[in-house]
Amino acid sequence: MQMTGTPEQTVLKREQLDAFDFDGFVESQNLALRTLLSAHQVALAPQNYIVDIGGGCGYFARQISDLHPRIKVYETDLKSIETCRANGIEAHLNDATHPRIEGNERLICLNLILHHLIGNGEAATRQLQQAAIKHWKNQYLFVHEYCYESFFGGELSGRLIYLITSSRLLSLVGKLVSKFIPSLRANTFGVGVRFRSSPEWIKFFKQSGFKTLGVVHGESEDISLARRLLLIKSIRRDSFLIKFGN
Ligand SMILES: C[S@@+](CC[C@H](N)C(=O)[O-])C[C@H]1O[C@@H](n2cnc3c(N)ncnc32)[C@H](O)[C@@H]1O
Repeated sequence: MQMTGTPEQTVLKREQLDAFDFDGFVESQNLALRTLLSAHQVALAPQNYIVDIGGGCGYFARQISDLHPRIKVYETDLKSIETCRANGIEAHLNDATHPRIEGNERLICLNLILHHLIGNGEAATRQLQQAAIKHWKNQYLFVHEYCYESFFGGELSGRLIYLITSSRLLSLVGKLVSKFIPSLRANTFGVGVRFRSSPEWIKFFKQSGFKTLGVVHGESEDISLARRLLLIKSIRRDSFLIKFGN
């Protein structure tokens, strides 16, 4: 059931979610988190929790387990919650876009989830992404996100990829083309994905009332010639430490 005022999220299908059962990014996420926490002297009291929202099967929660004794995952995918629990990781059914706040959360981690909060159109998508951060006014937020910078203005590629992946017709064309050019394959065809450039994420946080305290830039990925057709200049995974207020 949707809360009044929160747009409906276009959710990923089972096989699309299963494709994210991958732990290859946790080391860089862990390193970026530790760098930002120590640079900004974020202290965690023993009774507080680090919460990994959209934490999937709990790989990140396990990776940071020596950082703090209390870590939990908030997820909407029941299979991921079961996997977390089977591996001894505390996990709860809790939706990022209208979270049930328990009151003991201190540090909120949003690793590669914001770009999946897709609604019906650009405005609804932005509203969903904002809904995932706006409730956490007393917490620190660690956001790890894909940053797509474009030629001819930073933001074009993110918009173009959203346009293609969220349109059924363009996704069908994309799927067909990617049979011949595998580097154009996208797991999110037909659902949508909304990447932003690094400055655009920071602008988005600011417009949502959050100050960016620090950024750790990830390494640039290799980009195939075919993907350059989407005007992509660089792709990185950047990490942001943000906090509500000026
Ligand atoms: C791309 S995966 C990221 C997994 C992991 N955080 C990582 O960095 O590899 C996105 C995750 O977000 C979860 N998710 C999507 N929408 C959600 C929502 N509204 N609330 C909570 N979790 C959500 C999905 O079930 C999935 O596990």
